[in-house]
Amino acid sequence: MKTAHYARVLFAGPDLNQGSFAELLRRQLVERLGAAVLDALCDTGAGHDELWARLRNCLAAGELPLLLVDLDPLGGSQQLDWLRDQLKSLAGTQAERVFVCSGDAEDVPALAALIQQPERHLDCLQVPQLPAAHAWSCIPPHHYRVLLCNGPRCTRRGALPLWKMLREQLKAAGKLECAGGVHLTRTQCQFPCDQGPTLSVYPSGAWYRVSSEADVRRLVQEQFVEGREVAELIMRQA
Ligand code: FES
Repeated sequence: MKTAHYARVLFAGPDLNQGSFAELLRRQLVERLGAAVLDALCDTGAGHDELWARLRNCLAAGELPLLLVDLDPLGGSQQLDWLRDQLKSLAGTQAERVFVCSGDAEDVPALAALIQQPERHLDCLQVPQLPAAHAWSCIPPHHYRVLLCNGPRCTRRGALPLWKMLREQLKAAGKLECAGGVHLTRTQCQFPCDQGPTLSVYPSGAWYRVSSEADVRRLVQEQFVEGREVAELIMRQA
């Protein structure tokens, strides 16, 4: 799809093609932006190869300037820098005409406004460099490693908004990706789908069913702030 500022706009993120979340998002996007938006969606749930191929085609066809909107609910500043760096490599001398921004797939009106506001988009020329020595060369001091299931059945049970809220709640509690805090990793199916949305916690190995915002708040407070298992949310062996 095109806008007044861009010859090509693409939206990239996980779970844009299938499932209830995708169905709702696609319907809302079509209402706001027209049917052409469906061709602008690139699902990255299984990796970014399709996205890179789309971008190469756009660049080869001279569809510039181009805007890529990152819809990954767990993306952040570092992911945006990584995307910009990838686009810089792909675009070469055309990098100054390739732009990136981060959007919220749950707020389609804001998304529609965002793509019309070039002042909120970043080019792919001035990408911050990785420092020569950085924390990524060390085993991190996080106390918990938490695996969030993004498999198809947990997603259909409402996992993605809950994982987004979990991240926000951990950040508010000062427990997100810090010493003594929690490192979040998304996974594909972890297997106990019928008890999902599934979240597993290490080092204890506890399996949790987190099915509501109240569950998220409880898990953050009791498990990650107070350091005790939440027995009522633990899955039972079938
Ligand atoms: S889809 Fe989440 S456990 Fe299978």
